[in-house]
Amino acid sequence: MLTRPHRFRCVVLVVCLAICSIPAIAQEDHDSHVQRGREFLGLAPPPDPVAAARGQKLFTQNCAFCHGANATGAEGPDLVRSTVVLHDESGDQVGAVVLNGRPDRGMPAFPSFTRDQIADLAAFLHARVEAAVNRWGYKLLNVVTGNASQGKTFFDQHCSSCHSPSGDLTNIAKKFEPAELQAQFLYPSRSKTPTTIDIKLPSGEHIHGTLKKIDDFRVSMWDASGEYHSWSHDSVQIQIHDPLAAHQELLALFTNADMHNVLAYLETLK
Ligand code: HEC
Ligand code: HEC
Repeated sequence: MLTRPHRFRCVVLVVCLAICSIPAIAQEDHDSHVQRGREFLGLAPPPDPVAAARGQKLFTQNCAFCHGANATGAEGPDLVRSTVVLHDESGDQVGAVVLNGRPDRGMPAFPSFTRDQIADLAAFLHARVEAAVNRWGYKLLNVVTGNASQGKTFFDQHCSSCHSPSGDLTNIAKKFEPAELQAQFLYPSRSKTPTTIDIKLPSGEHIHGTLKKIDDFRVSMWDASGEYHSWSHDSVQIQIHDPLAAHQELLALFTNADMHNVLAYLETLK
């Protein structure tokens, strides 16, 4: 479902490069923002469209009633901005919620779904997340339309614990073009501020470094000297520190209006 428009865009890009330059630049801009969003969110390659289509059927029959046909929420919460879905790989997180439900909070259990059906449902939800990242990519191209004073209110509430307009963000609007600035606060660079990890070995020794990958079974990292290490989960104690965790949570909080208002406010910092 999603790879097709992706491919289509690539074709459009090549054709544009051949015959004209301006639309090609806009297209490139858009694609780089989408790519940036994917990296920030740690998204795996786009989900299999065939699985997503099967998942959509299951979703329509069983879940849309509460979560909305596009999973953006109705009676039940928006699943496109759900951190459960964001952190899910092939149904590992979504499956737990679907199979057990949260009966005390209005989410029924669906104990009869198979592993494959859960993976399909997850593929559908991931496809919806991808579509949202794409949508933001488009919106990024036409950006300074918000209300700066409402943006300041949002900033004071949600950003000022870590940033200051007269400190680290002084003149931030001089450093970046508006579209780039919006990408900076939606998806700050992970390479500049990597997730760090502290491992405690059974011997009591601590190894501190940069997280490479963590899944249900193994954790891997590079230590300060650049050496690679990998352990199984149960053999070590793990402490993870992601300096951008707050930014990831903010993504779930932002409405489109908030995003534009915050940008309009940041644009006054020059
Ligand atoms: C009767 C309404 C209802 C139906 C049907 C329903 N849900 Fe939910 N779902 C909810 C509610 C309400 C919550 C929020 C529970 C809470 O507050 O923790 C929820 C939570 C979730 C969450 C966790 C979201 C998060 O970020 O914590 C996932 C994932 C989810 N539902 C997936 C599904 C899927 C997939 C289906 C279909 C197989 C489904 N739901 C069917 C009402 C429903
Ligand atoms: C819990 C702390 C925290 C909160 C809350 C937070 N940020 Fe950040 N932000 C960071 C960290 C850490 C970085 C990456 C390091 C850096 O670039 O300063 C960052 C990076 C940024 C950058 C890129 C700065 C640059 O020079 O490249 C912008 C812009 C930004 N944040 C804006 C915001 C806005 C707007 C909000 C509120 C909507 C917000 N942040 C909320 C911690 C936070």
